[in-house]
Amino acid sequence: MNQNLYRPTYHFMPEQNWMNDPNGTIFFEGYYHLFYQYNPYGDKWGTIHWGHARSLDLVHWEHLPIALYPSGELGEVHCFSGCAVHDGTEARIFYTSIGDGERNPATGAEQWMAASTDGLLTWQKHPGNPVITSAVHGDADVRDWRDPFVWREGEDWFMVIGGSSEGKGCVTIYKSEDLTSWTFLNFLYKDEGEFSCECPLIYREGDRYVLIYSPGGVVQYITGTLSDSYQLVPEARGVVDPGSWEGYYAPNLLIDDRNRCILFGWMPDEARGKFEGISGWSGVQALPRELTLTDSGKLAIKPVPELQKLRGRHSGQEELVPAGADRIAGIEGRALELSLELDLAGAESPFRISVLRSADGQEETCIVIDRAAQQITIDRSRSSLSPLPHSTPISGNYETTDGRLKLNIFVDHSTVEAFCNETMCLSARVYPTLAHSTGVLLYGEPAHSPLIQFDLWELSQ
Ligand code: FRU
Repeated sequence: MNQNLYRPTYHFMPEQNWMNDPNGTIFFEGYYHLFYQYNPYGDKWGTIHWGHARSLDLVHWEHLPIALYPSGELGEVHCFSGCAVHDGTEARIFYTSIGDGERNPATGAEQWMAASTDGLLTWQKHPGNPVITSAVHGDADVRDWRDPFVWREGEDWFMVIGGSSEGKGCVTIYKSEDLTSWTFLNFLYKDEGEFSCECPLIYREGDRYVLIYSPGGVVQYITGTLSDSYQLVPEARGVVDPGSWEGYYAPNLLIDDRNRCILFGWMPDEARGKFEGISGWSGVQALPRELTLTDSGKLAIKPVPELQKLRGRHSGQEELVPAGADRIAGIEGRALELSLELDLAGAESPFRISVLRSADGQEETCIVIDRAAQQITIDRSRSSLSPLPHSTPISGNYETTDGRLKLNIFVDHSTVEAFCNETMCLSARVYPTLAHSTGVLLYGEPAHSPLIQFDLWELSQ
């Protein structure tokens, strides 16, 4: 299989090898910094380091030297996920240190710290590591304890860490005045699910907190307030992205100089890896998304406007060419942005947009909008001629007040991200095998088409 047919061109990826979660995302002195779980020795998960890149515009990324190596001399095997903060003098990374034997991920993980004073380029591990061990919980049962996330409130620092307790997922919360000595406050949240709550994040607006977490499947969020005993009192819940392991997992966030909350996330290649073996690379970072909190406690999610810089050749509604009852777009390719507005009020049958389509239609990925169910689906049943085990549909519900749906769909070789009414985004990986699977087609009777606007751009860096 030609792996280049699958390799995205405008998404962030390391030059080679394995990448998973975004880590330590932070805006500092004009740069957006992105660290990530990285195996420099191969294209499978293992020997986890922290890779590093930075960007001035969230679109063009500069690769930087590896930021964290496992300290073998201290028995450390992996540097698991975590966060970065700046205290005004120094930047600190907090991450989960995994070691040999007793320091295993299930019961022996420790939280470690590293510091940088040179613009986040080089990092020195704190001589007093670990900064927290699970002994801090006393008799409370906390396992799979990992992925610290730190934020500041006035003079105090708070940290949440994911885990599981008594067989259910949980998020624990801690407090510190100096970033070095930490007190366990409580279980911020206990989940109903059995999987641990990986990569918890807190986004705060006034008294309202949004907890985002990755429970081994679809990434969830809960908006609420904090009780005096530091427990989350839920107000609203939602899905960050229904993509799960086959589209979107383990996000991280930062607040930039314009007070924007920007979310990064991992688009796994695991299904491809399991089926046909992967050569050279695995894992993609999703496009940066801007989050805002609405009055109802729901998150609004949209692509950052900087991505418009990628737009090249354009084709509009007037260039759609009728082909029977369908219409073919004037541009094709594997790196595209589609912008559509649909008036679905009177639509009876689902509206279907086909991308990554071969001329004979034997290979295609369909984005299907079902007005009655207010549901969008990425139908992957014919995305790939080879029988890859990731042909299941991925669906989510969008919100609309007037029957209209504004879609921004980003296609990049093996990634599809569909933003709907700026309220949610649905992501999936697809692996079209034919070099000429590049077409864009709108299915349906033009006379009854709900299409009120259509724009298509080629995207390149
Ligand atoms: C999530 C995760 C984290 C962990 C990291 C290890 O994908 O399992 O919980 O820190 O990946 O690479």
